[in-house]
Amino acid sequence: MSVAAIEVSNLHKRFGPLEVLKGISLKADQGDVVSIIGGSGSGKSTFLRCINVLETPSEGTIKVHGEEIAMRRDSAGSLVPSDRRQLQKIRSRLGMVFQNFNLWQHRTVVENLIEVPVHVLGQPRDEAIALADELLRRVDLYEKRDVYPCFLSGGQQQRAAIARALAIKPEVMLFDEPTSALDPELVGEVLSVIRDLALEKRTMILVTHEMKFAQEVSSKVVFFQNGLIAEQGSPGDIFGAPKTEALRKFIRSIH
Ligand SMILES: Nc1ncnc2c1ncn2[C@@H]1O[C@H](COP(=O)(O)OP(=O)(O)OP(=O)(O)O)[C@@H](O)[C@H]1O
Ligand SMILES: [Mg+2]
Repeated sequence: MSVAAIEVSNLHKRFGPLEVLKGISLKADQGDVVSIIGGSGSGKSTFLRCINVLETPSEGTIKVHGEEIAMRRDSAGSLVPSDRRQLQKIRSRLGMVFQNFNLWQHRTVVENLIEVPVHVLGQPRDEAIALADELLRRVDLYEKRDVYPCFLSGGQQQRAAIARALAIKPEVMLFDEPTSALDPELVGEVLSVIRDLALEKRTMILVTHEMKFAQEVSSKVVFFQNGLIAEQGSPGDIFGAPKTEALRKFIRSIH
């Protein structure tokens, strides 16, 4: 049996007295597209941020292709990553795309794509540029390679952000509501890039409010409620035959 691309076990996250994640276990096999849906504040972003340790979990384990992210307890009893080099290596296997693009505004599009490959991962500059140009062609932004992000539309910025995440050749892509900051007419162009990634069987975990899209591309859909997985299953199960009243209500509220 092959090793899961991502395996999270019993993840808890507390912010002071507030327990935002209350024991989440989730597995994504290679080639899976796992969509996470759920109401505002249910912990979706926090979960995604814990996977690459942008937030440190309070309890639980995270494995990327079988390798567990090393953590220890500090003197206050909180978990902290205990192996910086391992963490950097694991992060370089995860591409993250945020709601608000998070491009470096003082760098051109192509510079955004080569920054981490060259300065963090130590790749030769010409190789990084060749890959960046190939990715920019793929997301139809080659003409904008030397432009600063503020001159791009939201949809173009998000496509550049996806290309930037792909530039580290990640094994898994993590998307946190990649289209929810976009004007409606720009949503389609970004979904179409993500759809292509799904078609080429890239492993992805996608937080989204685009239910039709989730239904179309996901191998598994997970419904978060109050920091727990309330329901999970195939898109057909989740959208066609929701079991809990909470999920039925959520689906109704979206339409
Ligand atoms: N850094 C933080 N400090 C304190 N509380 C936080 C922090 N980050 C998130 N929270 C709280 O954790 C809860 C879950 O937030 P999270 O952003 O994960 O929800 P979400 O499911 O992504 O919601 P949305 O759909 O609105 O994006 C919320 O109550 C939020 O206020
Ligand atoms: Mg969120």
